[in-house]
Amino acid sequence: MLDLLIHNATLPDGRKNMSVAVQDGRIKEVSASLVTDAQQVIDAEGQLLSPPFVDAHFHMDATLSYGLPRVNQSGTLLEGIALWGELKPLLTQEALIERALAYCDWAVAKGLLAIRSHVDVCDPRLLAVEALLEVKRRVAPYIDLQLVAFPQDGVLRGPLGPEQHMNNLKRALDKGVDVVGGIPHFERTMADGALSVRLLCELAAERGLRVDMHCDESDDPLSRHVETLAFETQRLGLQGRVTGSHLTSMHSMDNYYVSKLIPLMAEAQLQVVANPLINITLQGRHDTYPKRRGMTRVPELMAAGVNVAFGHDCVMDPWYSLGSGDMLDVAHMGLHVAQMTSQSAMRQCFDAVTVNPARILGLQGYGLEVGCDASFVLLQARDPVEAIRLRANRLKVWKKGTLIAETAPIMPKLHLPGRPNAQA
Ligand code: FE2
Repeated sequence: MLDLLIHNATLPDGRKNMSVAVQDGRIKEVSASLVTDAQQVIDAEGQLLSPPFVDAHFHMDATLSYGLPRVNQSGTLLEGIALWGELKPLLTQEALIERALAYCDWAVAKGLLAIRSHVDVCDPRLLAVEALLEVKRRVAPYIDLQLVAFPQDGVLRGPLGPEQHMNNLKRALDKGVDVVGGIPHFERTMADGALSVRLLCELAAERGLRVDMHCDESDDPLSRHVETLAFETQRLGLQGRVTGSHLTSMHSMDNYYVSKLIPLMAEAQLQVVANPLINITLQGRHDTYPKRRGMTRVPELMAAGVNVAFGHDCVMDPWYSLGSGDMLDVAHMGLHVAQMTSQSAMRQCFDAVTVNPARILGLQGYGLEVGCDASFVLLQARDPVEAIRLRANRLKVWKKGTLIAETAPIMPKLHLPGRPNAQA
C-alpha cells in the first residue's frame, strides 16, 4: 500500500485533477485521477501542488540582526557592509545559531526547503562558518542548506591581506563549506576585481566546486566583472557550475555592450541570481530623478537561454529591514521590477523561485517527476500566477513524504450590510 496519495491537484505546468502517489519518501506515480489505496489520502481540492521553494541567494549569518548595533541610515549597500563590520566583533556562535534556526523555522512554514547561503569568511575565527555548519547539520532533515565561502571585505582588499583572506576561505572550504564566493566589484581596482575572479575560479576548478560570486552589485555601468566571470568559466571548463549574483550594473550598462555580453554569458552557461527586494531598495541611491530600478536584465537573460533565479538575499539585517522567508514575495517584487506581466512571464517568475534555483544549487531529486523526492508544497491558489498574486497561503508542506508544516486555510468572514453572503 502507498504511504501517501494526493489527488485532485493542479500542477505548475497547468495539468489539473492530477494524483501524486508517494512510497518510501519518493514520488512513485504522477497521473490523472489515480485510484489506489494509501495509508493517507489528501484531497487537494484543485489547489496548486508545487515542488518546494528554493532560495539561491541568502545571508543566514546576518539574518534577524536588524537594529544590531544600529540601523542603516542611508539605506545603501556600502553602509550595510560598514554596519556588518561593526556587528561582526559582537557576534557569538550561540546567537548566530539561534537566529539562523529561527529563520529556518520561518522558511519551512513558507515551503522554502532549500537555501544557498553565503557566509562571511573574513573573520579568522571563522565563527559564522562554524555556526552555519552546525545549523546545516541540524536542519538537514528538512532543509537543504548549501553554504558559500564569501569574502565580504574582498579577498584582496580585506584588512588581513590577500594571503590571510585566501587562507581563511580555503579553511572554510576544508571544513565543509560547499561553494566558492567572491565580491570583485568591492576590490580596490577593476584589475584587482578581475584578478580575484581568476584566483577564485581557479580555486573552484582545482577543488571541483561550484562558484557563486556577488558580482557587479553596483550602479556603475563600467563595473564589468561579469565579463571576466564568463571568460574564466569558459577557460577553466566550469560551464553550468558558476553563478553571477546581483549583476545590477547590467541595468545601467550601454545597450550595445550588453548585446555582446549576454551571448557570452549564455555560451559560458553562467547562471544568474537577481535579488529584487534588496536591489530595488539598495540601488539608485545616488540618483535624484529619474531613479534607476537597478535590477539586472532578467527577461533579456531568460530570452537568451540563461538560467535566472530570484533570491531573497536578506531578511531583517544591515541591508534590509523587512522580509519573511516568503519566496512568493520575492517573485512578486521581481515580476513588478522587471515588468514581467504577460501570462508566460508571470509563470517564469514562479519558475525563478522553484525549478531555476534548484538547477543553480544542483539539487538532486527535486521536482514532481516519478523518482523525485516527495517534497512539495500545497498552496491555497489555483495556479502559479494566483500564487504570486496572493503570496498564497501554504496549506501543507511535505519533506520526503512527511508532513512538516501546515497552515489553516485563510477564509475571511465579511459582515457587510446588504451583502449577507459576501466572500473575499
Ligand atoms: Fe548577497
